[in-house]
Amino acid sequence: MAQDSKYKKSGKPPKKIKKPEGRLGVLMPGMGAVTTTFMAGVEVIRRGELPAFGSLTQMGHIRLGRRDENRQPLIKELLPLAELDDLVYCCWDIFPDNAYDAACHAKVLSKDQLDSVKDYLEQIKPLPAIFDRNYVKKLDGPHVKQGKNWWDKHLMLQEDIKTFASANNIERMVMIWCGSTEIYLENSETHNTIEAFEKGLKLNDASISPSMVYAYTAIKNGIPFVNGAPHLSCDIPALMKLARKLGVPVAGKDYKTGQTLLKTIIAPGLKARMLGIEGWFSTNILGNRDGEVLDDPDSFKSKEISKLSVLDTILQPDLYPDLYSNLYHKVRINYYPPRGDKKEGWDNIDIFGWMGKKMQIKIDFLCRDSILAAPVVLDLILLIDLAQRAQMAGIQEWLSFYFKSPMSAESVYPEHDLFIQLTKMKNTMRFLVGEDLITHLGTEYYDYFN
Ligand SMILES: NC(=O)c1ccc[n+]([C@@H]2O[C@H](COP(=O)([O-])OP(=O)(O)OC[C@H]3O[C@@H](n4cnc5c(N)ncnc54)[C@H](O)[C@@H]3O)[C@@H](O)[C@H]2O)c1
Repeated sequence: MAQDSKYKKSGKPPKKIKKPEGRLGVLMPGMGAVTTTFMAGVEVIRRGELPAFGSLTQMGHIRLGRRDENRQPLIKELLPLAELDDLVYCCWDIFPDNAYDAACHAKVLSKDQLDSVKDYLEQIKPLPAIFDRNYVKKLDGPHVKQGKNWWDKHLMLQEDIKTFASANNIERMVMIWCGSTEIYLENSETHNTIEAFEKGLKLNDASISPSMVYAYTAIKNGIPFVNGAPHLSCDIPALMKLARKLGVPVAGKDYKTGQTLLKTIIAPGLKARMLGIEGWFSTNILGNRDGEVLDDPDSFKSKEISKLSVLDTILQPDLYPDLYSNLYHKVRINYYPPRGDKKEGWDNIDIFGWMGKKMQIKIDFLCRDSILAAPVVLDLILLIDLAQRAQMAGIQEWLSFYFKSPMSAESVYPEHDLFIQLTKMKNTMRFLVGEDLITHLGTEYYDYFN
């Protein structure tokens, strides 16, 4: 989808980014493992008990100017980001459990860790969700909105948001999807225009899923939307047009954690050294609710497409047919209840080098997905709020760093290489505050051309 950014036309950074004054409402559909791990962690960090491990906005530095200037401020010192103390949550879930009970169920954090923030988490209770089992087949719950059609439910959601904002004295809001992965849907006529989509809401069109209703409600109310799952949500022409029309930033899809994070670290390295890859087999065992949902082939299809696209765009087999055109790439996710949230991801990579000699790489990642996802959620909330205050509308491709399946303009392929994504994001940060972009050319330190 074409990105209609003001900067593209002017090429200049915004004169002024609005200050992050007041409280930032964080609207979170889905209060499961990722959401509760994120909220518990933010509270511990607010209390000064631990650093924000894994969060670039909180712990990362950014180089400015020439290398000999030694200017390396923290990102949070350079950018006008919201303070953690200003975050206030509003959640929706199909189960009525408070955040403490939901976190205990998710079993990501230990009881000791959760008990230290129990009083705080117990106060956070989700509102009834917009939900339909046809879109998440392995799940059902009692805490759902009843309404004639999608439109009715959209109005109820809008009312929830207004009530939350006025009760909590909220200045600005962002919505971030942390709900389950819905079944794979393809773009349909209903998704093409704002008019067709709104008509579809009233007709309860089956090509509209609950996550699209959340995304529509957010964008229509000028609230930035982030999609942490691989399903479409806001990634349809109608909602992209609405976002650009109303000047709302959006970002997605599917948080880049675990196996895909490692894939986008390793694949660019192998390619950089012109090592060929014959096969890449990735398999996972996990036993949490996300794993159960992904046990359904239709939900898995959304995830599989998201996971498979990564290698193709990084390796560019059309440019490097000798190295990558015969690559066999397979991704499996196996629901295995005894593991709970303690996922194990194996990768077997069959590579070849000089004289065609074959080699193998084996990775066994004993990973905690939600531990990797929580800081991503935090960064995305703070950065999409910044984008809104900097008046950046539509797809925020500079946030690709955080996604498995990054949204991009129709005219370009998505960038998957983690290091290009990081360079792009840091340059966007410099650009936003009027600092020079860094090309790493470095000729200024040498007398090459004398
Ligand atoms: N954990 C990770 O590292 C990671 C990485 C990438 C993407 N994701 C995606 O993030 C999402 C959340 O992951 P999780 O591990 O927290 O899953 P989870 O199953 O623990 O939590 C999801 C929650 O969403 C709720 N839910 C489902 N449909 C809903 C709806 N329509 N409205 C409101 N609530 C709804 C469920 O009841 C559940 O409590 C999933 O889509 C997952 O695929 C997670």
